[in-house]
Amino acid sequence: MKYESQKVAYWFFAAAILLLSLQITYGFIMGFARMGYDGLHEFIPFNTARATHTNLLVVWILLGFMGAAYYIIPEEAQRELVAVKLAYAQLISFLLVGVVAIIGYHLNYWEGRKFLEIPRPLDWLVVVNVLTFLGIILTTLYKGKTRTTTAMVLAMGLLFAALLYLPGMIWFDNQTMDSFFRWWVVHLWVEGVWELIMGGILAFLLIKLTGVDREVIEKWLYVIVGLTFLSGVLGTGHHYYYIGVGKIWLIVGGIFSMLEPLAFLAMALFAVAMYRKGEKRHPNKLALYWTLGTAIMAFTGAGLLGMAHTLPQVNMYTHGTLVTAMHGHLAFWGAYGMIVFSFITFAMPNLTGRRLYDTVNGQLAFWLSNIGMIGMTMAFGVAGVAQVYLERKTGLEFGAVQQELEVHFFVLVLTATMFATGIILYIIEFFRYGSPQDEAIGMEEDLKTIY
Ligand code: HEM
Ligand code: HEM
Ligand SMILES: [Fe+2]
Repeated sequence: MKYESQKVAYWFFAAAILLLSLQITYGFIMGFARMGYDGLHEFIPFNTARATHTNLLVVWILLGFMGAAYYIIPEEAQRELVAVKLAYAQLISFLLVGVVAIIGYHLNYWEGRKFLEIPRPLDWLVVVNVLTFLGIILTTLYKGKTRTTTAMVLAMGLLFAALLYLPGMIWFDNQTMDSFFRWWVVHLWVEGVWELIMGGILAFLLIKLTGVDREVIEKWLYVIVGLTFLSGVLGTGHHYYYIGVGKIWLIVGGIFSMLEPLAFLAMALFAVAMYRKGEKRHPNKLALYWTLGTAIMAFTGAGLLGMAHTLPQVNMYTHGTLVTAMHGHLAFWGAYGMIVFSFITFAMPNLTGRRLYDTVNGQLAFWLSNIGMIGMTMAFGVAGVAQVYLERKTGLEFGAVQQELEVHFFVLVLTATMFATGIILYIIEFFRYGSPQDEAIGMEEDLKTIY
């Protein structure tokens, strides 16, 4: 690392990984419940487990983004973070709000709005927290020596993500209105502004790992930002087909959401093209694996599997089934889980001064987690298609269908075990690096020319 304050990123990463472990635990609780082994039902019913699983997911990804921003912004702006102690306080308070929310879910203190279950009083604490975070990031950028495109895109993504949290806090008595604005948060995050955050982090990593000129990489970033806005905003319509709003959304949502994969395709082509163009390589091969892997898995999970159910004619049957869970897993993992893992893999040697590049454990973590997640996606997909046929084509009763599906969750739990093994190995590597060290400041390794 170049600046001492970048060390704060480490603690965000450690917290992110901890919460991921907890998320996985709740995933298994649901996996077993779905197989028919719902022994914990009295204490953790399925709805509680589901809300906890998905909220932990969002929180650990956000912690990953924040950690990455605290690492990237000083380096791009060429100065220390403006308020380091405040950054630590921001982490601790963010975790506290998360813990209270999760305990609340177990005591039925929640709002039954998928992904936005967190009760509104706690929302205000999130707002204060995120304002603090943005204050530190934007002031550092403002006071810095340089404002690069990469840093600006990342900061813009973070700022818009914060603003788009607000529509989810408006109170409506009307179900359709509530649903309409819920998607401004959920959809416009993952298929809009988070893509900017991902694009910014991806650009930073490619600059560091491939040795291609910043100008070339940042030109691509404009293309990605453009494609994201072109398709993502009106693409929200793919959630408006059957919630009680006008029919116009069938056409608008269908057309624009079919264009959304282009932004992910651009990212995949971008990463591979820069990898091939680069005449130098960073010795941290694993970071490069994760980075290229992210671009490809995001295109598959978000782009291709999103496209698979985005047309109204298809979505009419697949809406809210396990087909959605199939896409949800590979999209979230492939895009946002993996970009956070890419960044951590890149940052750890620089933060700690230990160069555990390319270890067997690290390699295994990469392959087991990703192959495991592809297997999970297939298990959800097969279960989803079976569910659509049994429930919506043949008209078998909902509960009876759920029982028919139990067998598929055996495969889910099996592949999830493979995924979880990869994550455990990753965590072991994380701990082997130890904590950030002052000696690591200014010790970063240079790229090597490929002969
Ligand atoms: C990284 C990007 C993406 C992530 C993380 C993601 C994740 C998700 C999640 C979690 C849901 C369930 C939401 C809910 O019911 O509350 C969902 C739904 C959906 N996604 Fe995505 N998605 C991404 C990109 C895309 C793209 C690019 C498309 C289209 C090409 C797409 C199409 C859909 C559709 C049609 C639904 C609604 C499914 C239903 O009716 O139940 N997604 N997505
Ligand atoms: C090993 C671990 C995991 C298991 C066993 C697991 C299992 C499950 C199950 C059973 C559901 C509920 C599906 C239903 O409604 O019946 C679910 C939902 C979900 N999980 Fe996981 N999961 C795991 C890891 C992950 C990871 C790592 C991610 C993301 C990076 C993730 C993202 C999601 C999302 C977005 C949903 C909501 C999907 C939807 O809206 O339909 N899960 N998971
Ligand atoms: Fe969407």
